[in-house]
Amino acid sequence: MKVLLLGKLGMLGSQMLKALSGSEDFEMYAFDKDDLDISDKDALGEIFKRISPDFVINCAAFTAVDACETEKDTAFRINAEAPGLIAEACAKENAVLLHISTDYVFDGENPNGYKENDVPAPINTYGESKLRGEQLIAENWDNYYIVRTSWLYGENGQNFVETMLKLAETKSELDVVDDQIGSPTYSKDLCEELIRCFLSPFVSDLPKQHERTMNSESDKAGNDSPTKKLPFGIYHLTNSEHTSWCGFAKKIFELAKLDVKVNPVASEAFPRPAKRPHCSILQSTKLDCKMRSWEEALRAYLQLTA
Ligand SMILES: NC(=O)c1ccc[n+]([C@@H]2O[C@H](COP(=O)([O-])OP(=O)(O)OC[C@H]3O[C@@H](n4cnc5c(N)ncnc54)[C@H](OP(=O)(O)O)[C@@H]3O)[C@@H](O)[C@H]2O)c1
Repeated sequence: MKVLLLGKLGMLGSQMLKALSGSEDFEMYAFDKDDLDISDKDALGEIFKRISPDFVINCAAFTAVDACETEKDTAFRINAEAPGLIAEACAKENAVLLHISTDYVFDGENPNGYKENDVPAPINTYGESKLRGEQLIAENWDNYYIVRTSWLYGENGQNFVETMLKLAETKSELDVVDDQIGSPTYSKDLCEELIRCFLSPFVSDLPKQHERTMNSESDKAGNDSPTKKLPFGIYHLTNSEHTSWCGFAKKIFELAKLDVKVNPVASEAFPRPAKRPHCSILQSTKLDCKMRSWEEALRAYLQLTA
């Protein structure tokens, strides 16, 4: 199966490339900004025509949440218009599109979190641009999976875990916000689940060839890769359970055995250009799998990177 991956150098994209490159099932074509600007319609058209992909994964995005406030045009060009162009190109080539979106499409006012069909109401430009991207995909092509995830960390990327570990080198006490709740998600876990749920059903013999770690509750229950293609549409996928940034920081220091005192503070203590939703919990009601807890995933990440 010919797979076109966009955003191959990003945190999630690099995991996807690593995971998929080893498999004979996938003929990989991977790009990032320097090879292909996803907002360049002509360049996209040429690449799609040349490769004629069966499956397209879009991990490329403008993810600097605060910078989106001052660079609105860029945010909408990359996070909104470009996914629309990608969907249009997918339609021409009859390729399935897997696109990654975010918890930030919601306003965060519901303390129980959000289901896939809940009405989005973003409170910052990043969320607005990502939501518009979702809408433009749906306007241009039917065969898409939009997967919303949250609070990503992992190898190959600037992220909260690395920031905390770096700060611990010079600080013994830190203030961290405790009024934003969400599910930290390990990019490697997300990548494996994306492949299992969305890509693998398009390749009949994939489970035999694609080795994966036992990282989800459905694995532990003995379930193998789903064989059925999921209906196209919007899905939510994160590590399970939730916490605050403060709880996340405390767990990082506890697991890394670092003696750093963490003080809970309100978001107002850290004024930033972009507002953040208070509740970023994404309820997953359409998938039968449940990813392992964020704590288990964090433990695995810290062991791997120690
Ligand atoms: N990170 C999170 O906490 C988080 C949470 C929820 C959802 N998501 C979503 O998950 C997806 C992956 O996120 P991530 O954290 O892996 O992002 P990332 O590390 O920022 O990677 C995005 C990649 O896209 C590239 N890119 C930017 N503009 C481009 C363009 N015009 N053409 C081609 N490539 C371009 C970036 O290059 P440069 O770095 O050189 O700009 C980068 O390599 C995104 O859709 C994001 O919205 C992320």
